[in-house]
Amino acid sequence: MGERIYLNNDWKFTETYEEALLDASFDDSGLESVRLPHTCKELPFHYFDEHIYQMVSGYRRIIQAKPEWEGQVVLLTIDGAAHESEVYLNGEKIGEHHCGYTAFTMDISKQLKYGEDNVLAVRVDSNESLNIPPFGFVIDYMTYGGIYRDVYLDIKNPSYLEDVFVYAEFGPAKEREKFPRRAIKAELVTEAVFSGPVLAEGCEGKVRISYRKEGEGDYVLAGESEIKNLKQKMSYTVENVVLWDIDRPVLYEVKIELSCNGEVTDVRSITMGFRKAEFKTDGFYLNGCKVKLRGLNRHQCYPYTGYAMPESVQRNDADILKKELGVNAVRTSHYPQSHYFLDECDKLGLLVFTEIPGWQHIGDDAWKDQAVQNVKDMITQYRNHSSIILWGVRINESQDDDEFYLRTNAAAHELDPSRPTGGVRYLKKSSLLEDVYTYNDFSHNGNTKGCEPKANITPDKAKPYLISEYNGHMYPTKSYDDEEHRREHAIRHAKVLNEVAAQQDIAGSFGWCMFDYNTHKDFGSGDRICYHGVLDMFRNPKQAALVYAAQQEETPVLDLSSSMDIGEHPAANQGNMYIYTNADSVLMYKNDRFIKEYTAADSPYKYLKHPPILIDDFIGDAILENEDFTASQARDIKDVLNMFARYGATDLPVSGQLIAAKLKGIYRMTEGDAMNLYNRYIGNWGGTSTVFRFEAVKDGQVVKTILRKPMTDLHMEVKADHTLLKEGNSYDVAAVRICMVDENENLLHFYNEPVIMETEGPVEIIGPAIVSLKGGMGGTYLRTTGKPGKAVLKLRTEQTEEVCLEFMVEV
Ligand code: GAL
Repeated sequence: MGERIYLNNDWKFTETYEEALLDASFDDSGLESVRLPHTCKELPFHYFDEHIYQMVSGYRRIIQAKPEWEGQVVLLTIDGAAHESEVYLNGEKIGEHHCGYTAFTMDISKQLKYGEDNVLAVRVDSNESLNIPPFGFVIDYMTYGGIYRDVYLDIKNPSYLEDVFVYAEFGPAKEREKFPRRAIKAELVTEAVFSGPVLAEGCEGKVRISYRKEGEGDYVLAGESEIKNLKQKMSYTVENVVLWDIDRPVLYEVKIELSCNGEVTDVRSITMGFRKAEFKTDGFYLNGCKVKLRGLNRHQCYPYTGYAMPESVQRNDADILKKELGVNAVRTSHYPQSHYFLDECDKLGLLVFTEIPGWQHIGDDAWKDQAVQNVKDMITQYRNHSSIILWGVRINESQDDDEFYLRTNAAAHELDPSRPTGGVRYLKKSSLLEDVYTYNDFSHNGNTKGCEPKANITPDKAKPYLISEYNGHMYPTKSYDDEEHRREHAIRHAKVLNEVAAQQDIAGSFGWCMFDYNTHKDFGSGDRICYHGVLDMFRNPKQAALVYAAQQEETPVLDLSSSMDIGEHPAANQGNMYIYTNADSVLMYKNDRFIKEYTAADSPYKYLKHPPILIDDFIGDAILENEDFTASQARDIKDVLNMFARYGATDLPVSGQLIAAKLKGIYRMTEGDAMNLYNRYIGNWGGTSTVFRFEAVKDGQVVKTILRKPMTDLHMEVKADHTLLKEGNSYDVAAVRICMVDENENLLHFYNEPVIMETEGPVEIIGPAIVSLKGGMGGTYLRTTGKPGKAVLKLRTEQTEEVCLEFMVEV
């Protein structure tokens, strides 16, 4: 019922807004033709000045209003324009909006000229000097500009559903603990706002609510009510619905039909899950079961286009979080993000903590009023996403301001009685007006405990506690940093996750952050990038990503913290080496000789199911078998040589020094003897190459193998997130990841050479066509051009053969 028409194509754009754009007579043929999502400035990868995207730009488009729309209600929605917009139709101002992260809707029925061309013009201000959140101080992320989400028209019968909020309520979840997946009985609650003459005399208004499992079979009637008020809450008992949870996110479609005298005037379909999400004193519970939240923070930016990426790319980030990084939660730092991203979270069972825009700074009264408005807009626009479990109603890391935050909390509770509030702070024991204390715990510095205990942080121990950030600036790491740096980054993530898992009263934690991001001059590494991600900007995994990836069970993970090249380390001492895996055990072989079977029990991180496992043996039984020593002598020699390998002769731990003294004093071994044994069993300089083989075993089967030996050949691996590109409501984009690997699929960490790209067919490269790999990895994005057909991306380097990736574009 009703019709939605997307207005993403056929826009004209200028970097300099002028009033003449409003005139019907304005000749816009000289302006740039653009499609939405659009960035007001395409950007370099790094090293650029954040002023280049700050401007007052203009967008202009013709709307052909059909004659049959007359008498209907025509609503225009702009889903996201950064950062302040004024909208004009046929020269008349029809709306303005003061937030770059929420949508706004205008009723344009009165201004439209039916059966004619209408001029729609939008003035978009992307200056960071605006007096609205998040502006007013420094910000550790770029804020970009332009109409970067969808724009659409809804054509409605005058009696229509202006707003609908659907959620489930059911009794104590306790008894469900044993049967978290069974069908249950629940209350389906619908809060609806009606518009138009549904209450007028002569109209008998009714709302009918029915539901079905998404895409399956006929709708079942939940109930029907007469309309008595323009805002109405209805609650019906529904039987036999299956719960939505992390592993089985079953979704339902709830159909809400509005009728007047039996004639249906509007229909809305809301996709939702039946779930009970609760924060309790001791943690987070989903459907009565305690779940430790293991999440990452996500910004909504991409190389080159900033915020402007279409549906598939937004969804892809949720897929990466859930399927590649194995997390069960995400925080949309520091603002509400694309509905496509949230839809995918609903679909995947990825829990979401979302929050209002802002970064440390609280502005004047007008600024605060806007922040309160942002809470209202965020909640009304996002509350039908079942994946959202918590609203952030404070400005990220701001000071206490009870008067202000009483308002944001009240607004949130009024608009959504079903969800708790939080608000991210760096202050310990600050004024707690929210339901959950959410705190950025950056206490871990590599040596300290992974996190602080709840009791040190929250002023009210009865209230739940959640860690909203950790790591990040404590250890920036580039994909091309040296191995020990990358390992330290990974192990710090493991240490925090392990400590959070150990602390029974912490609901969970969100690492900073999912991927590297462009940032302002005041932050980052000086090139306008914050290298805080477990992924790089193209979403390629750094070593730290393996710590997360190993926590999921679907895809076998096996990798090492080391390339096994001792020359990469000071004095050729490799230090601690770790295995990242989700297998039951890992078999290690050296030159085909079995060395050791490793399991999680070999890890220092006891609270993780699949922790990084320390490699402490490079010798196995070789000394015992090959040399003429007693069993205890052989064990002593092996232990000290293994320590030599990790720490070197001068940095042996005390236990190693004691064994060395014993070997010298009691067994009369000389330094020469020790060197011989070291060279034979560990060093092997000048000898034939050492081959290390690791096999991951799960349920008795080898599920993944890695071979580490000196590379002799290399090739490029190129993967697109999807190759069937579809022009739907807008253009489509394929996210392409590139890496350089050896003949055994080992990443070549220091391959930083250029890749030259070319396309054939109806696609174009976003950003440069020549990119240098960084840390052996890189990427690009391919955009469809409105035409159908076969397309090819060709990639070349000086050292490898051309790789061709084929795409099909459907229009
Ligand atoms: C936090 C902040 C994040 C990011 C992070 C870096 O203080 O909330 O936006 O800047 O630090 O570690």
